[in-house]
Amino acid sequence: MEIIIKPDASAAQEEAARIIARQIQNKPDCVLGLATGATPVGVYAWLVAQHQKGRLDFSRARTFNLDEYVGLGPDHPQSYREFMRLHLFSKVNLRSENIHFPDGLTADIPAHCAEYEEAIRRTGGIEVQLLGIGSEGHIGFNEPSSSLASRTRIKTLTPKTAADNAKFFGGADKVPHHVITMGVGTIMEARECLLVALGAGKAEAVAGMAEGPITADLPASVLQMHPRCKLIVDEAAAAKLRRSEYYRWVYDNKPAWQRV
Ligand code: F6R
Repeated sequence: MEIIIKPDASAAQEEAARIIARQIQNKPDCVLGLATGATPVGVYAWLVAQHQKGRLDFSRARTFNLDEYVGLGPDHPQSYREFMRLHLFSKVNLRSENIHFPDGLTADIPAHCAEYEEAIRRTGGIEVQLLGIGSEGHIGFNEPSSSLASRTRIKTLTPKTAADNAKFFGGADKVPHHVITMGVGTIMEARECLLVALGAGKAEAVAGMAEGPITADLPASVLQMHPRCKLIVDEAAAAKLRRSEYYRWVYDNKPAWQRV
């Protein structure tokens, strides 16, 4: 795992955005895995700005989002589909037929999840997967105890995740209990993973995922097994990493050909 420590949130978001932009420029019909939440907002803002300057063309790119709340339709203000419309889809030239999302209103969740997996497979698989991390170590909504081999399915949020997301709903009691999420195994099949973590509230999960044991108790820790994973953090999220000085040294001495 490459661990990149940036001075602040916007520098960390820009680092991730540059990697995504390079992917789109190198392969215009690339398949991107996208995340929602507070962390990627600046990533999408940077990509939108590049698009508006005429430097980034999304017309052939294909996207799959990680997750959606069960019971929320695409027009619900708190749905992740609406979040993506607001921050990215309405501001770039992605074609609607190239955007894929779990359907929070599906009548048959298992069949829908199997179709979502099949749709990812048909494109040839996700090339770059953007991820955030929950304060208890989830990726997607794979909460602690999720099988590290899991596929897209329904999950129940932990009370901690509901509390973390209460700000978007005006209270933890209003956060839906269930979500559809790509599985840990689904995420692990992406050719490259970019996990961005910002702020002191993520420091413990970040240290656990990068330097602790691989365990379903902290699902993000499985990324230690991913052959191409970058963990991009700000100083506050890096605060509990034991080997942070080594990670900085590695980054500062990276060969020019490895830089974005
Ligand atoms: C969102 C997702 C979640 C979030 C995580 C961090 O699509 O899959 O894993 O990335 O909960 O959320 P924020 O960025 O709001 O701290």
